[in-house]
Amino acid sequence: MNKPLDNPALKEIEPFKLTLSGKKREFDIDDPDLPDWIKDKELTAGGYPCDEKLDRDDYEEQLEALQVELVKLQAWMQKSGARVMALFEGRDAAGKGGTISRIRAYLNPRTARNVALPKPSETERGQWYFQRYVAHFPTSGELVTFDRSWYNRGGVEPVMGFCTPAQHEQFLDETPDFERAIVNDGIHFFKFWLNIGQETQLGRFHDRRHSRLKYWKFSPMDVAGIKKWDDYTRMRDIMLERTHSAHAPWTVVRANDKRRARLAVIRRMLLSIPYDGRDLEAIGQEDQLIIGSGPGFLE
Ligand code: ADP
Ligand code: AMP
Ligand code: MLT
Repeated sequence: MNKPLDNPALKEIEPFKLTLSGKKREFDIDDPDLPDWIKDKELTAGGYPCDEKLDRDDYEEQLEALQVELVKLQAWMQKSGARVMALFEGRDAAGKGGTISRIRAYLNPRTARNVALPKPSETERGQWYFQRYVAHFPTSGELVTFDRSWYNRGGVEPVMGFCTPAQHEQFLDETPDFERAIVNDGIHFFKFWLNIGQETQLGRFHDRRHSRLKYWKFSPMDVAGIKKWDDYTRMRDIMLERTHSAHAPWTVVRANDKRRARLAVIRRMLLSIPYDGRDLEAIGQEDQLIIGSGPGFLE
């Protein structure tokens, strides 16, 4: 694919000036060639602890074993009425959507739903902030994934000016109590932060820009966000600090390698729920370099 795709929402994009690891760079995302300064660090950016992607065959074998376990989990949920809810957060192109699609790949879609809400409507803007999310919570036997969530108010909204500083502060203050009510009601609740490096993000944006299958994923919000890397970092740190709790901890996943990240997420879910027939050997061990708990994991 040579020319950037004609996405009506995204006309030509001017080259950006950026400073990365102290170096001034110019990035022309419409140029089909990805520059070496991105290519060379796509995997290792931001202190990623592996210098090769997980081997594809190894990944596929492990993924299938985990998906077999997810099918057992769903059968158990039908029988027991258990509810599971997992929300996925992370910067643009962190891999939220791809991870969710691997979780759901072999599940019965009738009882495994994904929730990816658009920006709030006028009516929703007038409601209690959490209201439109609560409407999608699981009933007995359901597994619900959220591709983005109420945590918009911890990241994109304050960064882009879609909420006031007072609303942001109120959100940070109230969220632990809101989540206590979720957990107290017996929902198995997960919060995943998928963490990627800056070159990783740029490489994925470039890939999306030039792919006939993925260009729709590259939004004007992503373009605006390229220049706001540091603002997003600050909001991430505040959010993880203020909303990491004993009852609803953040699980942080180093996600430059999508394969390792997806396996780590699914494994964590399976290890946290005691469903019938769980095969701990098939699930395998967590990789402590890839998955950890709370803001401290990124230090
Ligand atoms: P995604 O990365 O989820 O594909 P975008 O990058 O386009 O979608 O937008 C990121 C998030 O910002 C979405 O959850 C979207 O609903 C939210 N958002 C966009 N515009 C607004 C707005 N005006 N007010 C509040 N939220 C918004
Ligand atoms: P990603 O690789 O993260 O860019 O995700 C690409 C998209 O592929 C996902 O959002 C899904 O729509 C789709 N997909 C779903 N399941 C699979 C699968 N098992 N293998 C490849 N692609 C998939
Ligand atoms: C993804 O890769 O699915 C992203 O995390 C979604 C996005 O681009 O915001």
